[in-house]
Amino acid sequence: MKILVTGGTGYIGSHTVLELLEAGMEVAVVDNLCNSSEESLKRVEQITGKKAVFYPVDIRDEDGMRDVFLKEQPYAVIHFAGLKAVGESVEIPLKYYDNNIGGTLTLLHIMKEVGCKNIVFSSSATVYGNPASVPIREDFPTSATNPYGRTKLMIENILRDLYRSDDSWNIILLRYFNPIGAHESGMIGEDPAGIPNNLLPYVAKVAVGKLEKVHVFGNDYNTPDGTGVRDYIHVVDLAKGHIKAIEKIVKTEEAENGKAGALGLKVYNLGTGNGYSVLDIVAAFSKACGKELPYVIDPRRAGDIDMCYADPALAKEELGWSAEYDLDRMCADTWRWQSRNPDGYATK
Ligand code: NAD
Ligand code: UD1
Repeated sequence: MKILVTGGTGYIGSHTVLELLEAGMEVAVVDNLCNSSEESLKRVEQITGKKAVFYPVDIRDEDGMRDVFLKEQPYAVIHFAGLKAVGESVEIPLKYYDNNIGGTLTLLHIMKEVGCKNIVFSSSATVYGNPASVPIREDFPTSATNPYGRTKLMIENILRDLYRSDDSWNIILLRYFNPIGAHESGMIGEDPAGIPNNLLPYVAKVAVGKLEKVHVFGNDYNTPDGTGVRDYIHVVDLAKGHIKAIEKIVKTEEAENGKAGALGLKVYNLGTGNGYSVLDIVAAFSKACGKELPYVIDPRRAGDIDMCYADPALAKEELGWSAEYDLDRMCADTWRWQSRNPDGYATK
């Protein structure tokens, strides 16, 4: 079985390509390398001894995408390709709408044209906005407060409309909480350009001496220690969730004698169900790297919320998936990647 992975050289994409190959699937990757390096796939090949076919194509390139689909004839698409920086999306919203929405529309046009109607989409817990309570279930109301989040919500709605118009599609929306960690080999991991916006890559750069100290954004939140609480999930657990999603489509179709669209449209949270604060993260990472990491308390970051963690029960019940790795393991694996690759994939 062949799976086409858009955005497959990126952070979550490369870990998912690895798990797909390990599960015995064939993999084709499409990525325009705007936020990643082909080196990630070379390392996946070194780890697994198996190779994914790579196409350096932009998902907005209709002819290029058609060629890939006609050549590869995938059973399903896992769609990671997109821009993901919240602050940048506020500054250059048109680029985000063009890339994320335009790219997804082109992808869906081609999928429809060639009759590939199985898709797993990377959504985000950001679609829950500021939730009224935690843990967050899939049926909670959705909203968005920035262009990045709006692209995720819009794509979810585009996929719902598509399904309403044609029930021979199988569509799985996976809402990720906060992915961190790296493959245990220390050979692939998150490699953000410039100064990281997200907490874990920032903390890792402090640990490796590339940044001076952690800036804790606010200690007056309504949380046990006053700092923001999130549901951090190991990227390998997240990647495995995608394998389970593909298997769910296959098994449901088989159970219904190959009926196209047997599964329909489903939404799952991928999180651990545990909430950790910024100070918990600083403490866990200090333990992982063997030194106390310096931090200062700064003002809140605009748009941040108190608490966000998943109710992951639905994914457990229907996909047979639950997260296995704890916070110490997430930090240890991040540290292994960061300490061995202080400059990410550019490390000599
Ligand atoms: P990433 O930037 O590492 O990966 C995204 C990949 O998509 C990159 O390799 C980039 O080059 C590629 N890409 C972007 N636009 C493209 C285009 N037009 N054509 C072809 N390739 C293109 O990000 P990631 O962290 O691996 O995230 C993957 C997906 O998961 C994204 O859609 C992101 O919004 C979503 N997501 C990420 C997080 C997170 O915290 N990392 C959380 C929730 C959801
Ligand atoms: C951010 C995005 C969200 C996206 C998610 C995963 C924002 C506002 N939200 O979520 O849309 O889905 O990443 O990519 O950017 N923190 C610090 N110091 C730092 C960085 C972060 O204290 O240097 C704190 C934050 O206030 C927050 C927690 O750490 O409480 C996690 O922050 P971050 O890693 O940026 O993720 P989110 O804000 O949860």
